[in-house]
Amino acid sequence: MELREVIGRRRSIRFVRPYRAVEPEKIQCMLEAARLASHWGNVQSLRAVVVFRESASQEVLDGLYAPIAGWQIRLAPVVITWYLDPRAVDEQSDRLRELLDAGALGFGDTKKEDLETQLIPIFDTIRDTLKEPGLGEVDCGQGIAQATLMAYELGLGTCCLGTPNGEQIREHLGIPETCRVLMLQTVGYPAESWEAGGQRPRRPFGDLFSMNTYGTPFPRADDVVEELTADGMFTTPAPLPWREAELDYLRRALQLEDRGSGLL
Ligand SMILES: Cc1cc2nc3c(=O)[nH]c(=O)nc-3n(C[C@H](O)[C@H](O)[C@H](O)COP(=O)(O)O)c2cc1C
Repeated sequence: MELREVIGRRRSIRFVRPYRAVEPEKIQCMLEAARLASHWGNVQSLRAVVVFRESASQEVLDGLYAPIAGWQIRLAPVVITWYLDPRAVDEQSDRLRELLDAGALGFGDTKKEDLETQLIPIFDTIRDTLKEPGLGEVDCGQGIAQATLMAYELGLGTCCLGTPNGEQIREHLGIPETCRVLMLQTVGYPAESWEAGGQRPRRPFGDLFSMNTYGTPFPRADDVVEELTADGMFTTPAPLPWREAELDYLRRALQLEDRGSGLL
């Protein structure tokens, strides 16, 4: 699949096949994609603990339980706990030196000296601020997004889950106290059709993006939209007419009848 089609087919898949394990190799592909994502200063603060339902201990599985979306966690053959390790910032000077050596930064004869005497000292003065929530989370999000697109390219479905008990999960998995749990991501082979009811609603393009000044909508060219549609990036908007019947079928097939509306 081309990137445009992968983007078009990506949607949160809440119903996965509990009986079909996910190959560790496919999860590795997701992690490899996350690792290649961009990060300020090449710091690379994104980390993950991947829990496989078929091999993890019951204690570890129980520790992932969340009051919201708990049924999704119970169904999924794999749950990735993505977290951020702020200690990566402590090694930032070395990451910058590596970037320079790789030819990714600066130019001219004085670049090494300027890095040591100017750029690194600037970062040193704001190191603690750089460890706080902010830019690092953005970078981790980029990594998770790349992993997510890789999953869909491999025929998997995923759902990102925010969790109110990140601290408990961190402790349970033995993740160091200084780290911040970002979110869980369920991964499995979809039990729903790939459309999963259709492409989910989005705010109008012009309300989101400006050109040159705030409030001047970025012009949306129809021919670009047509091209992206032809390439599979825009697909039929939700809800497809048979979605409620599909949800009813999934609820029964996956024995979720006692889960009420499935919202929690
Ligand atoms: C960081 C993050 C956290 C999310 N948390 C939840 C969640 O707790 N429960 C849930 O059902 N969906 C969750 N979602 C999925 C969104 O609700 C979903 O992206 C949204 O419905 C748009 O649908 P789409 O992803 O299919 O395009 C989360 C998504 C992201 C990116």
